[in-house]
Amino acid sequence: MTHAPNSWQARDLVHHVHPQTDLAVIRETGPVVIERGQGVFIYDEEGREYIDGISGLGCNSLGYGHKRLAQAASDQMEALAFSPTFYGRTHPKVVELSEALTDIAPEGLSRVLFQCSGSEANDTAIKLLWYRSEAMGEPQRKKIIGRIRGYHGNTIASVSLSGQPHMHAGFGLPLPMFRHLSNPNYYRFHVDGESEEEFSGRMAQEFEELVLAEGPDTIAAFFAEPVMGGGGALVPPAGYWDAMQAVIRKYNITFLVDEVIAGFGRTGNLWASETFGLKPDMMTCAKALSAAHLPISALLFGEELHDIMVDQSNRNGVFGHGYTYAGHPVCAAVAVETLKIYEEIDYIGHIRRVAPRFMELMNELADHPLVGEARGVGLFYGLELVADKTTRDPFDPAMKVGEMVMNAAHQHGLYIRAIGDRISCMPPQVIKLAEIEEFVRRLTLALDDAWAMVHKQVA
Ligand SMILES: Cc1ncc(COP(=O)(O)O)c(C=O)c1O
Repeated sequence: MTHAPNSWQARDLVHHVHPQTDLAVIRETGPVVIERGQGVFIYDEEGREYIDGISGLGCNSLGYGHKRLAQAASDQMEALAFSPTFYGRTHPKVVELSEALTDIAPEGLSRVLFQCSGSEANDTAIKLLWYRSEAMGEPQRKKIIGRIRGYHGNTIASVSLSGQPHMHAGFGLPLPMFRHLSNPNYYRFHVDGESEEEFSGRMAQEFEELVLAEGPDTIAAFFAEPVMGGGGALVPPAGYWDAMQAVIRKYNITFLVDEVIAGFGRTGNLWASETFGLKPDMMTCAKALSAAHLPISALLFGEELHDIMVDQSNRNGVFGHGYTYAGHPVCAAVAVETLKIYEEIDYIGHIRRVAPRFMELMNELADHPLVGEARGVGLFYGLELVADKTTRDPFDPAMKVGEMVMNAAHQHGLYIRAIGDRISCMPPQVIKLAEIEEFVRRLTLALDDAWAMVHKQVA
């Protein structure tokens, strides 16, 4: 496709490299140019409106055009645009944010380290776990367990922890000390006659067998998202977290819950840990921490690990870790304001009021001929597209049916994401009931269009 010589598309292709994109394809198709946003809507350069059905990347909790957040950033830039948190320095906004966040965090998470992204938060967690192992005289305790289809980011360690083969391919990753358990996608992987509980028991047994095979004293931690976002909103099957946490307790394994995408209301509670009864020893969050208005992430943990860090840093003369922009004053100011807004607008109450309708309408899509499984929690939903609803046979990946649905949705003014043939939907948490109805109407039109295209191909 050729673009007008001075268009954003043409100019973009000259210098800008697109992450998570087929770079050969984008050269032909050119990028989509989004120019502005308001509420739950985004607008392209021609003024076409789309419902942002994936909240940016699962982060834009308050939607677009939030004047208070712009004001908070502007005020902070004028007061103190930057000041480091290295070398024992601090500033009021990072103090306020540390207080506000540990106040609402799950029990026992009273210490916080800031970074700019979810990847860095998970990477930092891995470093702290290794720091602890060294401090405790257990240098062999370095293995980290994740899950296939788990998503924890893109730094070398966090992508190694992620179970995303397409993000390991071509990079010679993962690093050797990472292990991956099976993907707990009951719909796709249960055997005939196996109940959800039995499937969950099998997953937990695999976990225990891995721990025993590796040696419990070599395991530094198990990391997991409560609901897998990178797996396309994979809600765990019944009994999964109870069974997995029994293994965690039995072998005293440190459990890091990655709330980067599921935190701040996505599942109907402030933390997805509440939704699924999880007891994190450590937790990471990002994205909706600042309503995605500026990059900031947090790693939370308890006093026990902090005490170890205090001793170890004193022995080494420094806690030898940190990013220039850790606790950046402008990002911290925006995060503080975001948390205040959540309180003031009864954000969690709103999600609880609208999510049941979202769930009800999305569940109805299970009857669509393309949809094998429709499953979600709160405002987090996944549709698995299948060639045969009875046998659960997938489509030939070369048909790119997920992409067909995604492209058709764009034509109908809805931005969603296809992960293979799984469709991920996570609208901004402030979405209103009428907008939810419109979201599902546009998605249904997209499914119908894709169904017609599939028919044409197979006919
Ligand atoms: C659960 C989870 N963890 C970590 C990350 C990585 O965050 P970031 O892209 O900010 O590095 C993501 C990103 O989508 C995520 O969904």
